[in-house]
Amino acid sequence: MSFLTLGIETSCDDTAVAVVRDGWEVLSEFLSSQVRDHALFGGVVPEFAARLHLESLLPLVDAALRGAGVSGEELSLIAVTRGPGLMGSLLVGVEAARALSQAWGVPVLGVNHLEGHLFASLSESGPVPPFLSLIVSGGHTEIVLVNGFGRYTLLGATRDDAAGEAYDKAAKVMGLGYPGGPEIDQLAQKGDPNAFAFPVPLKNTARVEFSFSGLKTALLQQVEKIKKENGGALPPQFLPHLCASFQRAVIEALLVKTALAVRLTGIKTVTASGGVAANSALRRALTEAHGACLPPLPRCTDNAVMVALAGYNAWTRGVRPDPHLTPDPSLEL
Ligand code: KG4
Ligand code: ZN
Repeated sequence: MSFLTLGIETSCDDTAVAVVRDGWEVLSEFLSSQVRDHALFGGVVPEFAARLHLESLLPLVDAALRGAGVSGEELSLIAVTRGPGLMGSLLVGVEAARALSQAWGVPVLGVNHLEGHLFASLSESGPVPPFLSLIVSGGHTEIVLVNGFGRYTLLGATRDDAAGEAYDKAAKVMGLGYPGGPEIDQLAQKGDPNAFAFPVPLKNTARVEFSFSGLKTALLQQVEKIKKENGGALPPQFLPHLCASFQRAVIEALLVKTALAVRLTGIKTVTASGGVAANSALRRALTEAHGACLPPLPRCTDNAVMVALAGYNAWTRGVRPDPHLTPDPSLEL
C-alpha cells in the first residue's frame, strides 16, 4: 500500500499544495503565487498575504487531490508548514490542515519551512547525512550541518539581511521590480562583474557568518553617484554592470563561507536550497566548487513538495502529531 502525503505551504506569499507518494513521487502540485499582488507595494504585505491564502488554499487542495486521483480520506498524512514565516500566513495553513485532518481522520504534522527547503535539494538517491546545507532564501541565509535527518547543527547565519532580501533591496535601489533576484540574475548575465569593486562582506573572518546590509549601502552609494553624474537619472546601460558586480560580491561571500564550512567540518558533500539557489551564477559556482546537489528550479523557491518530503521523512523517523499544533513565526531548525 502506498503512503500518500498532502503538503501545504503558506508561510509567506505563495499558497502551495502537493500530493507525494511514498516520500518522493510527486503525484500533483499546485501553486498560487501572490507576487503580482504584492509587487504593487514593493514587498509582501502580511495582512494581504493572509487574506489571499484564505481565498486560494481550499481550491488548491481540491485541485491537488483531483490531480492525484485520490480522496482526502485516502491520504496517509498531512504535512503543513508551521514556521518560520508570517504569523497570519502560517495560521491559514495550519488551521486549514487541522480542520482537514479532523474531517478526513488523517494525522497532521507541522513542518519547519527551512527543513522543507533542505529536503528540496535531496532525492531518493541521496545524499545521505552527514552533509552541509546552504539555505539561501528571502528570509534566511545559513549553513547547516545535517548530522542526520532531524539532527541539525547551525554552523552560522546572516547577521542582518538574508541573501534574497539583499537581492530584493538591491533591485529597489536600482528601480527594478519585486522580487529582485530573477531580474538581477538576468541583467547580470550581460554585465561586467568587475565594473564596480563592491566589497565581499566578512570575507576574511574565520567564522561561518554573513552580512549583506553593507553591500546594499555600497550599491546605493554607487547608484547615487551615477545619478548625480547623469542629471538625476540612472541610465539603463549601467544596470547590467551594477547587477553583475553586486551579484559577484554576494556569490563570493556565499562561496567563501561554504568553503570555510567544508574545511571546519571536513564534510565535503554540499547541498543548497531556497529561492537564491535558483540563481544561475550561484548554481554554476556551487557545482564547480563542490559538485553541490541543487533542487530543480521550481523547487528552489517556496513550494509544497518540499513540505511533503520533510513531513514524510519526519513520519518515517517516528515523529507523531502534536495535538496542540500551532504556528511559530520564529521557529528554528
Ligand atoms: O525561498 P523563497 O521562495 O522564499 C523565502 O522563504 O524567503 O525565496 C525568495 C527569494 C527572494 O528574495 C528572491 O529575490 C530570491 O529568492 N530569488 C533569487 C532568484 N530567484 C528568486 N535570487 C537570486 N537569483 C534568482 N534567480
Ligand atoms: Zn522559503
